[in-house]
Amino acid sequence: MARLDLSREAPTYAPALTDVPTLSPMERTVVENTWRGRMLNEHASARVFAGLVPQLMAAEVAPRHQAAVAEMVAEELHHARLCAGVLHALGAEPAGELPALAPLPVHADAASPLEALMRNVLSVSCLSETVAVALIDAERRALHDSPLAGVLKRILGDEVGHARLGWTLLAEHPLDDALRQRLSDYLRVAFAHLEAHELANLSPVAAPAGAMALGACDGALARDIFHATVEEVVIPGLERHGLDARAAWESRPTV
Ligand SMILES: [Fe+2]
Ligand SMILES: [Fe+2]
Repeated sequence: MARLDLSREAPTYAPALTDVPTLSPMERTVVENTWRGRMLNEHASARVFAGLVPQLMAAEVAPRHQAAVAEMVAEELHHARLCAGVLHALGAEPAGELPALAPLPVHADAASPLEALMRNVLSVSCLSETVAVALIDAERRALHDSPLAGVLKRILGDEVGHARLGWTLLAEHPLDDALRQRLSDYLRVAFAHLEAHELANLSPVAAPAGAMALGACDGALARDIFHATVEEVVIPGLERHGLDARAAWESRPTV
């Protein structure tokens, strides 16, 4: 396991928190774990976009998308520093163990560089980042106009771009029938991994009220938002591009 320590960077990014409620030890632990988990996941996300850059080149997508994805690497690293700033403002340590740093799949069995790329783009942008937009927006709204809502709003703006990348690439690269079929098959696996990842990260019980006022999420609500986003945004969006997304979701394997 690799460790990340942003103690040196965190003070620069710390928001000015006022009227911080007094927390019980349990509430404090939940809040700190929430922001530390965000920090570590955001930092690790940088490697995903870094892995996409050579795949974008190999698939000969428009250079502006290659440059935009390179900037997304820096955006994810910036999100981690913003979360580290929150931890610093809360008096918590902005350090921890990064999640497993699995490399982005190369999909050696794909028939073309575009197919290998589109598998990862579907998984990363059209699924994960699109769900992230819905979840972060809900968390931001729950914080009303607090400084912590401002932190999430800055992150959200970038995540919208990360999600849009996938939808833009789908629109710009019409898929032939054979590729549509193979990507639809791949979606079963992608949906299964998405659901497993989200459920592992979202507690089925709501955090205590004091913790939610400082950014801990209502896990039960977040699970509902996750499923609604898949049903109402992701599946219809993919089906508009000819992918058999509903069948893929409904036949996803257990992972
Ligand atoms: Fe992010
Ligand atoms: Fe992102």
